[in-house]
Amino acid sequence: MRLTVDGQEIDIDADPDMPLLWALRDLAGKKGLKFGCGIAACGACTVHVNGEAVRSCTLLVGQLDGPVTTIEGLSTGGKLHPVQQAWLEEQVPQCGYCQSGQIMSAAALLEHTPSPTDAEIDEAMSGNLCRCGTYPRIRAAIKRAAALKAGA
Ligand code: FES
Ligand code: FES
Repeated sequence: MRLTVDGQEIDIDADPDMPLLWALRDLAGKKGLKFGCGIAACGACTVHVNGEAVRSCTLLVGQLDGPVTTIEGLSTGGKLHPVQQAWLEEQVPQCGYCQSGQIMSAAALLEHTPSPTDAEIDEAMSGNLCRCGTYPRIRAAIKRAAALKAGA
């Protein structure tokens, strides 16, 4: 199968029933996304497909209908994505395990909603769990990223 991942076309030898998460981590070497639950309940495996945040643990490679972006392809042109920059400035991560998924969900949110309210952030991020409880810093970082994107 041929997939487009982080702007590159890659050929993988995968059964169409393989979850995208496995194909990306084990066959494409994209270790930035994480396995958490395997049942679309934690968000650790979040990537973008056609720019939308999806849980790659429950999407099968045979169901893919567009290019995939992982955390490893989020930044372009040698420059951090505003969400990544904001995450650094707010020092969001604790153990870090959930954070690539958090960042991918936040980046997708800001594409649709450039200046989200607290309620919109909570709703958009509700599928991304953090056992370290970094939620207040995530919210602050999303607001900072919104300002960075707006050029503030
Ligand atoms: S590993 Fe996919 S949502 Fe938890
Ligand atoms: S930073 Fe540890 S699970 Fe989120």
